[in-house]
Amino acid sequence: NGLRILAGLPGIVMGAGGLAHPAGADAANPVKLPGAAKSPYSTTETQTPFESVTTYNNFYEFGSQKEDPSRNAQNFRTSPWTVSVEGEAAKPRKYTIEEILKFAPLEERVYRLRCVEGLSIVVPWIGYSLHHILKAAEPTPKARFVAFQSFYDPKQMPWGSSTGVRFPYVEGLRLDEAMHPLAIVCVGMYGATLPPQDGAPVRIVVPWKYGFKSIKSIVRIRLVQNQPPTAWNIWDPNEYGFYSNVNPAVDHPRWSQATERRLGEFLRRKTLMFNGYGEVANLYAGMDLRKHF
Ligand code: MTE
Repeated sequence: NGLRILAGLPGIVMGAGGLAHPAGADAANPVKLPGAAKSPYSTTETQTPFESVTTYNNFYEFGSQKEDPSRNAQNFRTSPWTVSVEGEAAKPRKYTIEEILKFAPLEERVYRLRCVEGLSIVVPWIGYSLHHILKAAEPTPKARFVAFQSFYDPKQMPWGSSTGVRFPYVEGLRLDEAMHPLAIVCVGMYGATLPPQDGAPVRIVVPWKYGFKSIKSIVRIRLVQNQPPTAWNIWDPNEYGFYSNVNPAVDHPRWSQATERRLGEFLRRKTLMFNGYGEVANLYAGMDLRKHF
C-alpha cells in the first residue's frame, strides 16, 4: 500500500482523503508533504489556484482535451513505482518512489510554467534539483544528453492511442541544461504529492522551456551520448524543436509566442525570454536560437 509507505516516511503526514481510500487509489488522494524548504528560485507572483491547475491539463496518455486527464487519470496506479537512472553512468541505479522522495531535502519551487499553446500558470511545485540524482549516477565522459521516458500502459491509458502522439512519451535535455539547479525532479505541488493528472508520482519540471519539456510520470532517466528523440519533435519536427526554450521572438508556425494568457486572467501578458529565467542564458551562448528552436 503506497499510502502506508508514504506515511512511514519522516515528515510525511497522511491527508484525510488518503486514509479513507484503499491501495491503488493513492495518486488520486494526495498525501501531504509538509516542511518543504522555501527556495530562492521561487517567484512571488500570484499562484494559479490548485483547482484550475489540476483540471486544465495536457497529459495525452489520458486524452487530448484539457479536461480529459483530471477525468481519466483518477485510477492511475502509481504504486509500486520505480525510476531507473542508467546509460553512460558509472553508478546506474533503480530507485523506488520512496527512495526518490527521500533522495534530497524537498524544496518548494514556485515557478512559472509557459505552455507552447500560449497559456501560463504559476505553481508551487515540490521537489529538488535534478542534478542531485544525475551526479549520484556519476555520468561518464561520454554522457552529453539526458533522455527521459514516461510510464506507458495502454490498458490504463486507452485514450492515448487516438491522439497521434507516439508513446511512451519521451523528452530530453543537454546534460548541462539538466544540471542547472532550476531543473527539478518534482514529486508534489501545493503542499502534497502530485495528483495523477499532473504527473504522479514523479515528473520533471524545466521552467525556462515550453511546458511539453516538463515530462510527467517518469520511469527512466538515461544518460546518453547523442541528442535523444522527443515526443513532440517526433510528432512534427517543423513545429517542435529539441531545445524549446520559451522565446517570444520565435513564433510557432501556428501561433505567435509574443504573449500569453495566465490561466484565470483575461488580458494577455508579454512572454519573457526564457520565461523570465534569464540566469540560463549562458547555456546558449553563441547558439542561434532561431535555428535551435
Ligand atoms: N508528459 C507526458 N507524459 N505526456 C504529456 O502529454 N504533456 C506536456 C507536459 N508533460 C505531457 C507531459 C505538456 S504539452 C504540458 S504543457 C505539460 O506537461 C502540462 O503540465 P500540467 O498539466 O501539469 O500543467
